[in-house]
Amino acid sequence: MGRLADKVAIVTGAARGMGAAIARRFAEEGATVILTDILPEVAATAAAIGTAATAHRHDVTDEARWQEIVAEVIARHGRIDVLINNAGILMFKDIRETSVAELRRILDVNTVGTFIGMRTVAPHMIAQGRGSIVNNSSCEGISGANSLVAYTSSKFAVRGMTKVAALEFGPYGVRVNSVHPGNIDTAMVNPHGSPKEVLNQVMGWYPAQRVGDAVEAANCFVFLASDESSFCMGTELIVDGGLIAGHYYYGLPGAPADILPPSRKTSTA
Ligand SMILES: NC(=O)c1ccc[n+]([C@@H]2O[C@H](COP(=O)([O-])OP(=O)(O)OC[C@H]3O[C@@H](n4cnc5c(N)ncnc54)[C@H](O)[C@@H]3O)[C@@H](O)[C@H]2O)c1
Repeated sequence: MGRLADKVAIVTGAARGMGAAIARRFAEEGATVILTDILPEVAATAAAIGTAATAHRHDVTDEARWQEIVAEVIARHGRIDVLINNAGILMFKDIRETSVAELRRILDVNTVGTFIGMRTVAPHMIAQGRGSIVNNSSCEGISGANSLVAYTSSKFAVRGMTKVAALEFGPYGVRVNSVHPGNIDTAMVNPHGSPKEVLNQVMGWYPAQRVGDAVEAANCFVFLASDESSFCMGTELIVDGGLIAGHYYYGLPGAPADILPPSRKTSTA
């Protein structure tokens, strides 16, 4: 409790999934949280958190709406201490199947949305002389994966712009870092709501041997948002159960005994 006491935080894509978990954890740690999302459910998510939370309908690709929300937060709270660029979309298609319009759409939400968020909020943080921006990339922002050309491109770009922002804003007391989740149990990777036990049956191919919970990722955002991470700038915090740590050689010592053959490997976002 209290790790984010008195901080004012904006979390995008917060109606459900990781964004909702981040907003909940932030409120538990004492923050005032502004949840934004295109989904109307964002209002109910904020209401369930309590008086520390408010909700805004918001498409992160809409620059004018970003300006309205930021102006409203500044008018009401006087400052913005934390920005979490979390909103994102996923699409599984290989390069030959992916249209230019589809590529542009994924880049628009995941990458351009993050860019607009940073460029809208950063001037206020710079004027304050402090702030923390955390961009939700992915383990697909670190390594490639088949059928994820658009998503992987968008998340590599988020990782790259995080470094640039860390360099440009750091001297003004504004820290910028990225989180790289993998296989977190949300609607994005589990749209039909399969029970964790079912999902875990096909997770033998990486160290954790199970899917992650949204709160396990949210805890990483708490750390990077808080003053505990005061010397982290341009840091990549991977929270993927070891997914991209390396790979197992089947049948050799050190691999899990009941590891599945490669043909049963599954995908992640
Ligand atoms: N679940 C995973 O395993 C995983 C892994 C790596 C990265 N991520 C990233 O984590 C973030 C959160 O994803 P999630 O797993 O909670 O999925 P999710 O689909 O449950 O949540 C994504 C949220 O973003 C919102 N959103 C989508 N487009 C938007 C837009 N244009 N403007 C505003 N909001 C928009 C959605 O309405 C939704 O509430 C995403 O950026 C995703 O790419 C997820």
